[in-house]
Amino acid sequence: MTSKQLTNDADWWRQAVVYQIYPRSFADSDGDGLGDLQGIVSRVPYLEALGIDAVWLSPFYPSALADGGYDVDDYRAVDPRLGTLADIDQLVDALHAANIKLIVDIVPNHTSDRHAWFTEALAAPKGSPARERYIFREGDGDQPPSDWDSVFGGSAWAQTADGQWYLHMFAAEQPDLNWEHPEVRADFLQTLRFWSDRGVDGFRVDVAHALMKDLSEPMPSQATLPRVSESYGLHPLWDRDGVHEIYREWRQVLNEYDPPRSAVAEAFVPASRRARYASADGLGQAFNFDLLQADWEYDKFRQVIEENLALADQNGSSSTWVFSNHDVVRHATRYGLPKDPSGLWQDGKAWLLSNGTEPTVDVELGLRRARAAVLLMLALPGSAYLYQGEELGLQEVGELPAANLQDPAYFRSKGAEKGRDGCRVPIPWTVGGLSFGFGSGGSHLLQPKWFGGYSVEAQEGDVSSTLSLYRKALAVRRGLQTGNSLTWVDGTDWVLHFTRPGGWQSITNFGVAPVELPDAAVVLSSGPLEGDKLPSDTTAWLI
Ligand code: BGC
Repeated sequence: MTSKQLTNDADWWRQAVVYQIYPRSFADSDGDGLGDLQGIVSRVPYLEALGIDAVWLSPFYPSALADGGYDVDDYRAVDPRLGTLADIDQLVDALHAANIKLIVDIVPNHTSDRHAWFTEALAAPKGSPARERYIFREGDGDQPPSDWDSVFGGSAWAQTADGQWYLHMFAAEQPDLNWEHPEVRADFLQTLRFWSDRGVDGFRVDVAHALMKDLSEPMPSQATLPRVSESYGLHPLWDRDGVHEIYREWRQVLNEYDPPRSAVAEAFVPASRRARYASADGLGQAFNFDLLQADWEYDKFRQVIEENLALADQNGSSSTWVFSNHDVVRHATRYGLPKDPSGLWQDGKAWLLSNGTEPTVDVELGLRRARAAVLLMLALPGSAYLYQGEELGLQEVGELPAANLQDPAYFRSKGAEKGRDGCRVPIPWTVGGLSFGFGSGGSHLLQPKWFGGYSVEAQEGDVSSTLSLYRKALAVRRGLQTGNSLTWVDGTDWVLHFTRPGGWQSITNFGVAPVELPDAAVVLSSGPLEGDKLPSDTTAWLI
């Protein structure tokens, strides 16, 4: 059965290709420089032609954009700059008519500081019930209650006018909610129902592993905190077991719908802890960022794939695969970076440094590997998450001027980190024009001159373009993707070769010299072949 035929099935998400849209940077219908919902509606034919199964829409809620929309003022409304609830309804209808599902982002760890609950909390006196929905504590004189760092740099505590402190694991404009509070729990169930009732098919759960915290005193110092990847439920702030009780309640609500609404956890936890988030009585699926964080190396890829397929089998979920999203340097750029002994540049989480140390990117190498990577990923069992612009082979924009940067990571790190804006620059639709077809006005993040060469218009009629490769790959995959099994074909150490049911073979050459292709018909390759040889950094599909 192909994935399109599965779309009305409760299991549609298991093998789906999901395309992430960062709405403020996708398409701008009213020329104000900010992408919007009508912009997305106008591009549904593009999404249909691309051949995806679902869209994951990053936050479109009212927000002051202290963190790109992940600072939500109201979970059941639309940012007026992006549109209205009627526009969401129209988008759901347009996508469904094209047989594309819609997954929306939900941000439960923190609200924005403009959320009605937080304004009420600040206006209320210390110790009042309105403050209990958040995490307020007394400090030690003018010192915060603990020396914990926020993810974006600086203290994780901010002080209020009356001297109390509140916890914010991200920016100060993102106060953490108190998930021990029954009203917080009930309100999010209402939000899940609100969007599910409107026809939304699933949810991407932001920092799903952060909700429960152990704030018993004395709070341990930052220096003694274990690494999350080694904490196995014992870290006071991340991946605590209690979080799964919350998702069991969510699952009951999601299962009230037909088909049940899907959910995927963003949880940076060790692979062995991921299964809990992906369990059938939990969210059902969890992101696996292991390939995104792996260097372009045969051993790493093979190990990550083996481990994740085994884990998905054990817990009855399906694996997820992803190379790029709105939080990391685009992989066409990462793969073109020189080998860095510190691992910083290659690590998908690393954001380009702003202190003048950016390395030179080998754009051609990065693109060749990115194309090989996507064919490899799309041949794996499980669901594949694509990030807008990667189908164009788009590179990170490293040259954004400081005055144009928006990411709180840049400001909170006092410029030590450039932040994530370089992967969030509005994508180019046309070769020229004021904002390369993004809209009739400018663009909230400045597009570089070279963007036009990557545009949809430039690639559309070119059979060798990256856009054509994605379109062909998604169409071929639709006919071939079935089941969860994969069989390794062992041979050369730097050649990743496997077969799938129906005789579909995928073979990737991570080495430097061309290798012999197996004796079968090539249906697609990520780059030109050398006769019957597969060149370095290339993937071919055969049948
Ligand atoms: C999102 C980020 C966001 C953070 C805080 C994440 O993991 O993907 O973009 O800054 O959560 O909400």
